[in-house]
Amino acid sequence: MTVGLPDGFIRASEVLDERFAGTAARQLDQQFGNEELLYGLNLLGLAGPFSRVTPWELEDEAGVRRINASGYAATPFGEMPPVLTDFLQDFLTKNRAMGLPQQSSGPWRAALQTNLVRLLARELPSHTDSQVFFCSSGTEAIEGALKFAKAWRPKAKFQISFSSGYHGKTLGSLSLTPNPEYQDVFRPLVPGALTCPYGDLTALTSLIRRVGPDNVVCVVVEPIQGEGGVNIPPAGFLSGLGELCRKYGIVVIADEIQTGLGRTGHWFESAAQGLDADIITLAKPLGGGMTAVGATIVRHAIYKKMLGGLSSKRHSNTFGGGAMAMAVGLKSLEYLMDNDLPARSLKLGELGLARLRTIQAEYPRLLEDVRGQGLLLAMQFKPMLGLPLPEVLKELVFEATAILALRELHGSGVMGNLSLSSKRTVRLTPALDMPEDVFKIMMNRVADFAARNPASRHILTNTPPAMTAKLAKFAASKPKKRTPSDG
Ligand SMILES: Cc1ncc(COP(=O)(O)O)c(C=O)c1O
Repeated sequence: MTVGLPDGFIRASEVLDERFAGTAARQLDQQFGNEELLYGLNLLGLAGPFSRVTPWELEDEAGVRRINASGYAATPFGEMPPVLTDFLQDFLTKNRAMGLPQQSSGPWRAALQTNLVRLLARELPSHTDSQVFFCSSGTEAIEGALKFAKAWRPKAKFQISFSSGYHGKTLGSLSLTPNPEYQDVFRPLVPGALTCPYGDLTALTSLIRRVGPDNVVCVVVEPIQGEGGVNIPPAGFLSGLGELCRKYGIVVIADEIQTGLGRTGHWFESAAQGLDADIITLAKPLGGGMTAVGATIVRHAIYKKMLGGLSSKRHSNTFGGGAMAMAVGLKSLEYLMDNDLPARSLKLGELGLARLRTIQAEYPRLLEDVRGQGLLLAMQFKPMLGLPLPEVLKELVFEATAILALRELHGSGVMGNLSLSSKRTVRLTPALDMPEDVFKIMMNRVADFAARNPASRHILTNTPPAMTAKLAKFAASKPKKRTPSDG
């Protein structure tokens, strides 16, 4: 047996002291991690690593600073927010509770689950005696929700989700994320997944009637679709969906992983839109951008059906409810409440959307649409090549438009997000507590980006030809099956 450290072992202190950083870190991240992803991003100059300057500002290796509106809605207070780092110092010196209580009781878990249920019950009194199951990601929160629903209606076999919906990439949640790019090689997926057009109550009603209401386990819905490109459903859709499902006893799962806890301006977007869901999933912001916390909040009777009596170990995990994750979740929730960040998000988001609309009016050949609510803002680009193209090429052009637009935005000093299930939409998801002056500078930079790219074809002509050639070669090596067009 060989003893001692393997060659090239990297010590934690080297990372902490930034002796291991920059290009060396990126290269090894690529070599021993998701090489293709980081390779593509690096071609675009978007791979980092980036370092925190302030919670809202990041710098790259060359010292260029950018305002951060990326993070896929999971960094509600920016990077390393003092409210959490100060608290964590205290936690590390004072906490005596077990790190992973698992099958014993834990005060941090108890506090966070109590607060979540009380917060929800304030909006939806029917949830006063609901119960929480903690996990460590959004997709796992959905897996839990699907199991709770199935245990409640064991004879039913169909689960319904919506076109352009996104619920995660583990097998259960993936089955309800109707995107061939993510699903195809994994077929057959979990059986019984049906897709309905988002926002179409008539289609949902006929689908349920066609398969028979007793055969439907659950309907899973995002109150506003995030990865689908920020799609806000028509008024009455969510409340109508709730009434329909209640009539038939079908379980409603509101996936609030992206929208919940203030991102779209409300504690629970589904409740704000008149939906009293049976199960609500949360994740992203609950970890404060520093830890992994997912939660499935479930009506009492449904919770008991899966985890009742001797069946109480039917669903479990090792890390859910861990002390540090729960402590950060608890502090994050407290900070959201103390500063009424959902209301702030709604107000700042109105300013942001108004500005995006002005930019769109000025540059209609760049922006096909702008959308948003709260600090979930989206820009949908005109395709950068307008020629009639065969379907496969059209998809590629859509995808390239958003990717190169992200690069141009980056060049103007703003970091944004792609949308995992919408090809040519770039989203801005800044911290909910971003100071107003920083937010305004960010929107000025978005305007600068548009001025540099007054029509979408400039996104291509502003890209250095050598970079375009390398990207084209990279794209040609990717599998051909792509996300269905969103335009
Ligand atoms: C609405 C929604 N549900 C589920 C997920 C999956 O969460 P995670 O990436 O933490 O697994 C996401 C992630 O983007 C999401 O936006």
